Amino acid sequence: MGNFADWQLGTYFAGLAGEKPVHPFSFRQLERRAEAALTARDPRLWDYVAGGAGDESTQEANVAAFGRRGIMPRMLAGAADRDLSVSLFGLTLPSPVFMAPVGVIGVCAEDQHGDLAAARASAATGVPLVGSTLMSDPLEDVVAAAGDTPAFFQLYTPSDREVAESLVNRAADAGYRALVVTLDTWTLGYRPRDLRHGVFPQLRGECLANYASDPVFRSRLAKSPEDDPEAFVAHWAMVFGNSRLTWDYLAWLRSVSRLPVVLKGICSPDDVRRAADAGVDGIYCSNHGGRQAASAPALGFLPGVVAAAGKLPVLFDSGIRSGVDVVKALALGATAVGIGRPYAYAAAAAGEDPSGGIEHLLRWILAEADLTMGLNGYRAVRDLAGATFAL
Ligand code: FNR
Repeated sequence: MGNFADWQLGTYFAGLAGEKPVHPFSFRQLERRAEAALTARDPRLWDYVAGGAGDESTQEANVAAFGRRGIMPRMLAGAADRDLSVSLFGLTLPSPVFMAPVGVIGVCAEDQHGDLAAARASAATGVPLVGSTLMSDPLEDVVAAAGDTPAFFQLYTPSDREVAESLVNRAADAGYRALVVTLDTWTLGYRPRDLRHGVFPQLRGECLANYASDPVFRSRLAKSPEDDPEAFVAHWAMVFGNSRLTWDYLAWLRSVSRLPVVLKGICSPDDVRRAADAGVDGIYCSNHGGRQAASAPALGFLPGVVAAAGKLPVLFDSGIRSGVDVVKALALGATAVGIGRPYAYAAAAAGEDPSGGIEHLLRWILAEADLTMGLNGYRAVRDLAGATFAL
């Protein structure tokens, strides 16, 4: 097997044959194209995806934190062949990269089927998708499009436990390999950009396919979602979050889940220890890309979370914009690293070919991570321990 870095050679060979690259190769370029594409289509959607909580300083700090870390280069290390594979929930993954759940990926794609596009890109690259509860296509169709690449299902915890149980069972039946329970969104964060528009996508009935296709959720409605879309959305808004989300709910959720349970949104070492005592299978350190509570750069929490997690795997996201960032998060102890906004931007920027746009982004992130490891003298993910330092 070759290195992920070899991918870039294809672009140079194609260039020699007179081909011009279609997709961008840096986050800055990608962001510009996505902003142009989404603003032309619907400025409210651009604001929803790019924006965040409050003055947005948390999301900016997430990105800036990576710039304050370096990687120690080691020479003559014989790192010509790299192994980026990792083990997670009993699976061997070819790389430590995954797609974080992005609830509007569906509508970021021009054809409104961005969840399927992400799943196809996952199938092509081996990069797992964490499918959001908020999909534009039913979760069964999305996991089928991921082919042989394992997928994980993210649960927003509905206040109606029977709806929650139904979603959890559907995810297991459909073939998802882990349940990612998001804890930091039991109610909506303060998002000035969305408030300015007075709306966000789900309130317009978008990305609710998993509810519309759920027999238990449907049983709660007087009329079908197709016959009375407004009542459907109103009921969704009522059950979406769970203001009584406590450790008790978690114990119940574990008892009904056949899948490994991972908690998303954990940053405090005390919460990690409590989660470990509660028997969870993984910790997901994240501040939701600065979209929920204002706190501090997520990267700052990672070492404490890793230390408290012991043998539990630690997933990480918030602020990853390049393969270099992936390597830094791994060097701080993350088991796997999630990409959020960049793949939503890739779906939007790629116009008629959202899956191709996401696939290109993933291949570039993998190639850049691989080259960063190789050129700095690290052959495998486990060799990265201690490779990063504060500037
Ligand atoms: C998200 N995120 C998110 N998280 C989750 O658990 N379920 C979801 O449905 C969504 N939806 C969502 C939509 C949009 C538009 C964004 C940008 C993010 C959070 C996501 O999983 C991840 O934590 C952040 O995106 C990571 O930060 P970056 O990479 O966007 O900086």
